[in-house]
Amino acid sequence: MIVQSATDPIHECNVDSLIVALGSDWENSPTITELDIRMSGRLSQWIRDGELSTKAMKTATILTPIGLQAKSLTVVGLGKTKEGKTNDGDSQIGIAFRAAATGAKVASQAKIRKTIAFAGFSENFSSESSALQAAISQSAVAGSITGGYGQDLFKSEPAMSPPETILWYDITDDLIQRGKIVGESMTLVKRLVNLPPNYLYPESFADEAIATGLEAGFQVEVWDEAKLIAEECNSLLAVSKGSTRPPRLCIFRYPGAEAENESENAPIALIGKGVTFDSGGYSIKPTDGMLTMKCDMAGAATVLGIIRAASLLKIRQPIIGLVGLVENMVAGNAMKLGDVLTARSGKTIEVHNTDAEGRLVLADVLNVALDYSPSRLIDFATLTGACCVALGNDVVGVMSNDTELQTRVLDAASSVGEYAWPLPMFPYFAEQIAGKVADIKNVGEGRWGGAITAAKFLEQFVDEKPWVHLDIAGPAFLDSAKSWCDAGGTATMVRTILQLLEP
Ligand code: BES
Ligand code: MN
Ligand code: ZN
Repeated sequence: MIVQSATDPIHECNVDSLIVALGSDWENSPTITELDIRMSGRLSQWIRDGELSTKAMKTATILTPIGLQAKSLTVVGLGKTKEGKTNDGDSQIGIAFRAAATGAKVASQAKIRKTIAFAGFSENFSSESSALQAAISQSAVAGSITGGYGQDLFKSEPAMSPPETILWYDITDDLIQRGKIVGESMTLVKRLVNLPPNYLYPESFADEAIATGLEAGFQVEVWDEAKLIAEECNSLLAVSKGSTRPPRLCIFRYPGAEAENESENAPIALIGKGVTFDSGGYSIKPTDGMLTMKCDMAGAATVLGIIRAASLLKIRQPIIGLVGLVENMVAGNAMKLGDVLTARSGKTIEVHNTDAEGRLVLADVLNVALDYSPSRLIDFATLTGACCVALGNDVVGVMSNDTELQTRVLDAASSVGEYAWPLPMFPYFAEQIAGKVADIKNVGEGRWGGAITAAKFLEQFVDEKPWVHLDIAGPAFLDSAKSWCDAGGTATMVRTILQLLEP
C-alpha cells in the first residue's frame, strides 16, 4: 500500500474517496472552510441542518460532490474536540485513530475506492503541545491504514477491499511514515488473529515471525519440540501433547537504537500467549465457547506486532520478545486432570483444569525470558473469561507486582485512548492456588476472581522482577464489528505499548 502526503490542492484532489474529519469546532477548521468555499456553502449548510453530524464516529458520504474533483466525500464525526483529555478513555490520540479508521472502513466497504485521501484529522484538536499534535497525526495515519482491513480473508467476494493508495493532507512525511509502520504492524496482528486454526498453527506462526523479522530487521530464533524438551519446558509441552501440531517457542531480539548507558541496555521482555487453538482439552469447551478460540494466540501476535513496529521505528529501548506456541487439543496422549508437571523453573504444578492452559504455557515462557536478564516484563494473554466478567469485553485487565510499572502502562493506555483497568493483586489470592500434591495448582477455588488467581499463578514465574500482566481476553477479538474495526482481531495494546516504550 502506498501512503504519502497529498500534493494537489484539496478541491483538485482526484481520488475515489476524500475523507474529512468533522469536529464540534468545525467552524475553525481550515479544511472544512476551504471545502465549503469550493462547494458554494453547501457543506456548512448541511452541517447546520444536521444532515452531516459532528457526533463521534458518525459518517456520511456525498457522491460526486459539486465543486470537488474527488468522486466521493465522506465526513467522519470527531465529537467534542475542544476539551482536553478526559478520564473516559477518549483521548484525542484515540479519537483521531478511531475516526480515521472509521473513514477507512467506510471507503473499503465500497469496492471501487482504490485511492483515498484524508484531511482535517489533526487540526480540529486544540492541542497544547506539538508533541501531542504529532502523536494525534501519527495515530490518525495508523488508523487510516488498519481500519480498511477486515476478517474476510477467505471470501471469494471480499466484504472489504483496502485501498491501494492513501494520501494525507497537512501531515509531515515523517509522521506519515511512522503512522504507516504502526498501522501496518496492527494490520499484521489482526490478520494473524483472524487466520483460521487450520492455517495458523505453531509452525506456521513461527514462519510468519521469521518473515516479519527479515522484513523489519530483528532477530528471530525458533525453538522446536526437541529444543523445548532439552530446555525442560515441561509445562508448555504438557499443553501441546494432545496435538498433532508440534509446539514452538520464538525469541525475538531487537537491540534498540543508540543506547547510551549500561542501564539502558537491559531489555524489556514482552511475552505472549500463543495458543493457536484452545479446545479446552479434556476440560473441553462447549461449541459456542470454542468457536472463536483461534483468537487465543492474540498475545503472541501482539508481541510480534510491537517488535515489528519498534524495529522499523528504530526506538531506543532494547526489546526481547518471547512467544509460546501450542495447540490445546484432546487425544489419547493429551494432558489429563490430576497430572503433575514440573515447570522449567522447577516448580511443580497440579493440573485441575486442562482449559487453564495459557498459564501453563506462560509459566515456561516467563522463565525463559528471565534468562535474558530483562529489566521488566510485560505479558499479553487472552487468559481468562473471568476478566471479561469483571471488566466487560472492551477493557484490558491490568495486573502487576509493581505499582510504578503498572501506573506507566495505565497512563500509556489512557493517553492513546485504549481501555485498560487495574485489578487487585492482594496476597491472599495466592492462597487459592496452593497445591495438594504439588507446589501449585492451575486454577483457583471456584470461579470468583478468576482473572486474578490466573495472574497470581503467573506471578510465581517472574522471580519478583517488575512485571505487568495484560489480560486481553475481551478486547483482542470482536464478535461484532465496531465503526473503526471489523469483527475479529483488533490489535489491542500495540499503540499503548509503543507509547510506553517511546513516549
Ligand atoms: N483462552 C481461554 C480464555 C478466553 C475466554 C479467551 C474467552 C478469550 C475469550 C482460556 O484458556 C480459558 O479457557 N480460561 C478458562 C480458565 C478457567 C478454566 C480457570 C476460563 O476463562 O474459563
Ligand atoms: Mn483454555
Ligand atoms: Zn486459552
